[in-house]
Amino acid sequence: MSKTALVTGCAGFIGSNLVDYLLEKDYSVIGLDNFRTGIETNLDSAMNNSNFRLIKTDILEENLGDFESDIDVIYHLAAIASVKLSVEQPLLVHHYNATGTLKVLELARINQIPRVVFSSSAAVYGKPEMLPVTEETPVYPLSPYAASKLAAEMYLRAYHHTHGIESVILRYFNIYGPRQAYSEYSGFISIFINHVLQGVPVAIDGDGLQTRSLLYIDDIVEMTRLAGESTNAAGEILNVSGAEAISVLEVAERILALAPESKSSILHGDPRVGDVRDSIGSGDRVKEVLGFTPKVTLDEGLERTVEWYRSFLRS
Ligand SMILES: NC(=O)c1ccc[n+]([C@@H]2O[C@H](COP(=O)([O-])OP(=O)(O)OC[C@H]3O[C@@H](n4cnc5c(N)ncnc54)[C@H](O)[C@@H]3O)[C@@H](O)[C@H]2O)c1
Repeated sequence: MSKTALVTGCAGFIGSNLVDYLLEKDYSVIGLDNFRTGIETNLDSAMNNSNFRLIKTDILEENLGDFESDIDVIYHLAAIASVKLSVEQPLLVHHYNATGTLKVLELARINQIPRVVFSSSAAVYGKPEMLPVTEETPVYPLSPYAASKLAAEMYLRAYHHTHGIESVILRYFNIYGPRQAYSEYSGFISIFINHVLQGVPVAIDGDGLQTRSLLYIDDIVEMTRLAGESTNAAGEILNVSGAEAISVLEVAERILALAPESKSSILHGDPRVGDVRDSIGSGDRVKEVLGFTPKVTLDEGLERTVEWYRSFLRS
């Protein structure tokens, strides 16, 4: 029998890609979004699928409602995913990310939904002393965003122990791919690609030799689905990271090489205060628990992403 998933944040970058993937895998999907950063066109394909139902609402709504179906798993992605905004408006981000997660857990408790998979962030580790970062690395949130994610994680653990709701916490490292929003609050790859395609300079913080491990969206949605299905995953915290670290400068150079028509060039600005120098997570635990290893190479992923933005900007 096909499973039913509730995806919060379904119109966002990761949420909408996850919805499409779950529908492909014969799930029935209920998507929930307040469209704060999510966009309707991300759901174009899902809206044509009779196994998808969209509920436009806020997870903080008093009466989140009766879903009239038995839900097997909640994939909880709705959040304000911005470190910068969390510094500017910490109370707002706490409300969405921490209180919002508590609301989702209450929804799971009241509706007897057995499992919640939560999209947390590598930001909870702060500036770890040892690389690669394992799940045993001490947490040390350095921004209100990271603190809000960690608070949410603690609520998941508490509900796991108090109410038996299986929690799976995924600490995403850097993710990229089609539908990632482009704004001053976005991830650096979407900003770089948009600047290259618009022919404006790509601004790099400092020398650009800071490194990141990047994971393509198709790998993320596969791994996130597995986290909802695997019996081994209950109660786990898993790092979700690309397999190798690459410098930000090299990423910019590879993107420029994919758009030879661009008049864009690289500019170096001041280093960003508080920026983590190097970031890579160990993939050992996620491989052990979910049998997952990333499949899409950086070159393939960047090529697909540049192509997607090219046609998006034309439309
Ligand atoms: N993109 C990354 O690199 C990354 C890295 C680490 C963690 N994450 C986490 O993954 C999740 C998804 O991130 P994303 O990049 O897709 O972000 P996104 O902004 O594209 O998606 C978030 C979605 O949640 C919706 N939303 C926000 N608050 C809501 C609320 N109160 N009620 C209902 N809907 C609400 C937004 O409208 C949006 O559609 C977030 O929890 C984020 O913190 C993302």
